Amino acid sequence: MEINSTNQIEAGIDSNYDRKAEIKAFDDSKTGVKGLVDSGLIKIPRMFHSGIDIAENVAIDSKLSVPLIDLQDIHNNATLHKAVVTKLQSACQEWGFFQVINHGIPISVMDEMIDGIRRFHEQDADVRKQFYTRDLKKKILYFSNTSLYRDKFANWRDTVGCSMAPNTPKPEELPAVFRDIIIEYFKKIMALGSTIFELLSEALGLNPSFLKELNCDEGLFIQGHYYPPCPEPELTLGTSKHTDICFMTILLQDQLGGLQVLHENQWFNVPPVHGALVVNVGDVLQLITNDKFVSVYHRVLSNQGEPRVSVASFFNNSHDPAKSTSKVYGPIKELLSEENPPMYRDTTVGEMMAHHFAKGLDGNSTLQPFRL
Ligand code: OGA
Ligand code: NI
Repeated sequence: MEINSTNQIEAGIDSNYDRKAEIKAFDDSKTGVKGLVDSGLIKIPRMFHSGIDIAENVAIDSKLSVPLIDLQDIHNNATLHKAVVTKLQSACQEWGFFQVINHGIPISVMDEMIDGIRRFHEQDADVRKQFYTRDLKKKILYFSNTSLYRDKFANWRDTVGCSMAPNTPKPEELPAVFRDIIIEYFKKIMALGSTIFELLSEALGLNPSFLKELNCDEGLFIQGHYYPPCPEPELTLGTSKHTDICFMTILLQDQLGGLQVLHENQWFNVPPVHGALVVNVGDVLQLITNDKFVSVYHRVLSNQGEPRVSVASFFNNSHDPAKSTSKVYGPIKELLSEENPPMYRDTTVGEMMAHHFAKGLDGNSTLQPFRL
């Protein structure tokens, strides 16, 4: 992008500030925040200013933290299995987040997946530009900020998204820099997702196959995020406060940290644990569990120093908008009673997504319009 023209806008008096033009020039550059950083800027453009005090409501010195759950031997030891189901139940009720270790995905696969995403964002600008698009019909999308034109401020983050299931891209459709590893990682994440949905069904007091029979694990959208070093990290955010519009997310983060979860009105760090995966409840799971499991706000701080990489895998019934509009979801009947009446009306993932993306990152709950 034309950094000079941005600087001129920055230097100009307030009434001359043309936010739309700044956003458009940034989007037209097709090289994301990484492109800005590569141009050597030392002040962040105004479109990234959050106006948020990131030190506010941050948990200090708390003994509380997102539960860490060990999945070792749960398939052949009934006592361990039961203990894990109990832990998952309280984690999903109280935090909406947990970390898992000994989940069966080799650390080498996780590390290589992180490296693959890093390679994508650090490859030649002209190569990654070819994937830059906001067209959700594309199977591979490289962009910066999902709702760039709607949000109050832009996030210091770029993303490459791949729609992996139900219609898995052909290998040649995938960017060469992570082609092999994303196929391997995707297969392993699908298997782990299936195991976790079984455990979550049990944690709800339902048959292990219950959630899978609702097609919760049929669609997978993988996003490889890149958070370039930020010269003024206190002025913006890597990712604004949001909830995930899906049934469940499995997140792989590198060792830098920055992810925070809102718990009892305080922001808690989710410390990186090498080999662990972070799992969180999405909005659709909160709706069908009638608030038994909660989809909670989380955000990512930006940082100076090294670029941060994370890989988010979102489970949905189907990423295909044509399909996801057809299946109707509401609170699971088996979980309802006279004391626990339905709190949501029936809806579709398509309708929830449409609302989520139309509202952008405004800090309001995606579930609100669906509440009875
Ligand atoms: C997300 C998300 C966190 C991270 O992609 O929805 O919350 O650490 N990502 O990148
Ligand atoms: Ni998220």
